[in-house]
Amino acid sequence: MMTEVKPEAVFLSGVKTMTDREFDLFSNMIYSVTGIKMPPVKKLMLTSRLSKRMKALEIKSYSAYYEYICSPEGRSAEYHRMIDVVTTNKTDFFRESDHFSILADRVIPELTARAKFMQGNPINIWSAGCSTGEEPYTIGMVASDYFVGNRSSVSILATDISTRVLETAVNGVYTENAIKPIPLPLRKKYILRGKGDKEGLFRISPDIRKMITFRKLNLMDKRLIPGAEMDIVFCRNVIIYFDRPTQAELFDKFYEIMAPGGYLFIGSSETLHGISDRFIPAGPTVYRKK
Ligand SMILES: C[S@@+](CC[C@H](N)C(=O)[O-])C[C@H]1O[C@@H](n2cnc3c(N)ncnc32)[C@H](O)[C@@H]1O
Repeated sequence: MMTEVKPEAVFLSGVKTMTDREFDLFSNMIYSVTGIKMPPVKKLMLTSRLSKRMKALEIKSYSAYYEYICSPEGRSAEYHRMIDVVTTNKTDFFRESDHFSILADRVIPELTARAKFMQGNPINIWSAGCSTGEEPYTIGMVASDYFVGNRSSVSILATDISTRVLETAVNGVYTENAIKPIPLPLRKKYILRGKGDKEGLFRISPDIRKMITFRKLNLMDKRLIPGAEMDIVFCRNVIIYFDRPTQAELFDKFYEIMAPGGYLFIGSSETLHGISDRFIPAGPTVYRKK
């Protein structure tokens, strides 16, 4: 015999199903803190991601988890873990590889010919939304190869809102599968093979790791990196999760901290068209500050 099951009464592995009100509470909180838009179609995804944290904490309802996050104790102990699970961190070495050809063949040669760099200043590069580090390490390898190991020619800042991904990024240790997209000559120069209990793992060489400063940073902050003058910004596959007003505000903030004529790389499925006219197209999803 079939019995009617009311959503509120259903328990999935001990965790109550999320009501629409609970979904609204979380999606509003996530949007106001991270800028990430959670439309109702993402309810199932959000449910499954948050339920992992709730199981770990043995909290049985989403309302109780929400209250915990809002409490003084939850704010310091759990808040960042909630951010960790709601962000999407997919990334790869040499993701959208055309960008790295443009970087090495056009952007770096052009920038190094400018007076500022001729005088010995490094090129400032920012990987904004760097996830587990594959993007800034790719930039580091490409730049190091260009300058034949002269690390001081570039300075790379890599930031993300998620504590968990930054831990992996700082460590710089990856699986054999993860390093596959790295061209063999670069792998030979910049990747160290693990031994003993690290067999099967690979670490980015200290020379490349030293080029990069990792830092936690929320792109929703009012002022990003005060005093910075970035020559190149990579912000790829990040704005895809934001709505248009949030994207427009972010590009205004990028504009403020970028050097005149600086380059902005965004993801291949993203665009500035109709969002910001302060940058001019300079290649496939590559722009220059006006
Ligand atoms: C899909 S990954 C993209 C990684 C890399 N840029 C790439 O293209 O491979 C998006 C990253 O943006 C980060 N992110 C999302 N919202 C953010 C925010 N408000 N501030 C900083 N980072 C954010 C996420 O934590 C995630 O690691």
